Amino acid sequence: MDTHTNASDYVKNGSVERRSLLSGAVALGLAGAALGAGTHAASAAQTGAHAKSGRFQGKSVLITGGTSGIGRATAHAFAAAGARVGFCGRRAEWGRRVEREIRNAGGEATYIQADVRVADQVRRFVDQVAGRYGGIDVAFNNAGIGSGKLPHELTVEEWDDVQATNARGVFLSIKYEVPYMLEAGHGVIVCTSSSAADQARPNGAAYTASKRAVQGIVKAAALAYGTQGIRVNALLPGTTDTPFVRPPGIPDDDWAAYKKAFGPLNIDGLERMAEADEIASAVLGLASDDFPYMTGASVAVDGGSTAGRKMVQPSHG
Ligand SMILES: NC(=O)c1ccc[n+]([C@@H]2O[C@H](COP(=O)([O-])OP(=O)(O)OC[C@H]3O[C@@H](n4cnc5c(N)ncnc54)[C@H](OP(=O)(O)O)[C@@H]3O)[C@@H](O)[C@H]2O)c1
Repeated sequence: MDTHTNASDYVKNGSVERRSLLSGAVALGLAGAALGAGTHAASAAQTGAHAKSGRFQGKSVLITGGTSGIGRATAHAFAAAGARVGFCGRRAEWGRRVEREIRNAGGEATYIQADVRVADQVRRFVDQVAGRYGGIDVAFNNAGIGSGKLPHELTVEEWDDVQATNARGVFLSIKYEVPYMLEAGHGVIVCTSSSAADQARPNGAAYTASKRAVQGIVKAAALAYGTQGIRVNALLPGTTDTPFVRPPGIPDDDWAAYKKAFGPLNIDGLERMAEADEIASAVLGLASDDFPYMTGASVAVDGGSTAGRKMVQPSHG
């Protein structure tokens, strides 16, 4: 059962079971969202004109997977803080739309089409961002896809695609970003892992493996470049309201009802899904000068979902 089925069932039946929600939405990544489904992820754009705080004024920021969801919200947030943002994704129409949103709000951003699975495209993307904005001060390696099948149901091609996108994509990004940072003598890299790295699901083998790989790459890179002014950290978001988990085409009211039920059942702690803006805030924090001594870390931003579970007592007969 995938997220979409769960959400639809919830809406249809008007009731919800903990098990069915868990098996779906937290498996993540099942949304091949249509362009029209992007409206719910528009909160960053809805913050209005980009009031430049100057926190990242003039900085060059690169983002992979900026065409929707967390990457899009983060592109908005960096631009609002004065950065010049180069971002990629495969869907040109979505990318151009995000670029337009940011520029209309007074920010500076450039969309460049690139597929993080393809080395030449990643190299070209990184070179173009560095060339346009004068190097790379911050990189947010965020592009990712999900997978929600039991191990024996996964095809070899599906497994490979998840690893190529989520793990090799992060490796390729770091590979081509680091030379610019070494040359400049500074840089910050944040990579999107997931709470699912620490919290496997029956249908999450490919996804969890790929997000654990991200942590491994991050730790090695942190050790490799720490003395050369480059910090590298992994961000582990919990379930976040993006096209990644929201079924395409689901009406806003139905999605709101599903989210309301999902939080208390699955996210002990804050008892709600994250909004993309909240994950973007964490990325900006990690990328800022506020954490000069943090590198090689895996930072959970998951509303407490990996902190543990509240104990549920069976009822006495
Ligand atoms: N939403 C959650 O609950 C959640 C929780 C934990 C972690 N995460 C992680 O957060 C990251 C962002 O996810 P999201 O929630 O924002 O989902 P999303 O809205 O589906 O965004 C995924 C982004 O990754 C890009 N992408 C996927 N494959 C790519 C490829 N081969 N080359 C270039 N770009 C690619 C997509 O762009 P194109 O399709 O245009 O290429 C899109 O911009 C992912 O790494 C995901 O694993 C999400």
